[in-house]
Amino acid sequence: MKYSALALGTALAFFSQFSAANLDLAKKSGCLACHSVEAKVVGPAWKDVAAKYKGDDGAKAALIAKVKAGGKGNWTDVTGGVPMPPYSPRVSDADIETLVDFVLAL
Ligand code: HEC
Repeated sequence: MKYSALALGTALAFFSQFSAANLDLAKKSGCLACHSVEAKVVGPAWKDVAAKYKGDDGAKAALIAKVKAGGKGNWTDVTGGVPMPPYSPRVSDADIETLVDFVLAL
């Protein structure tokens, strides 16, 4: 996967307070092809995802289901209706839970 030095630097600076393992997992799982923490790429910025679901107790389960099965409709105004691809079983359930926890904690 290719990243500009600037994007990587920004990501590293932002993530310094988080586990580098989570970022590695997101990279390895292919998520960063369409997402970044700070800005919309193809999918919404992950910090915007965290903000949207802040205080929503059902969000974790809903987002795990979304990452597993894919889908669209929650970010149409941001993405123009591009769907999120399904990640199960390509990415294990445990890794998907880790990634969703990570995104929601941003
Ligand atoms: C091919 C591009 C692409 C890839 C790769 C991708 N996503 Fe997404 N993602 C999207 C799009 C587009 C949306 C917006 C979907 C919508 O409108 O509901 C999205 C939405 C999301 C959301 C918010 C879902 C919601 O319903 O609010 C989460 C969380 C997320 N992605 C996590 C991930 C994770 C974790 C990975 C890696 C395992 C990943 N994405 C990989 C395109 C992608």
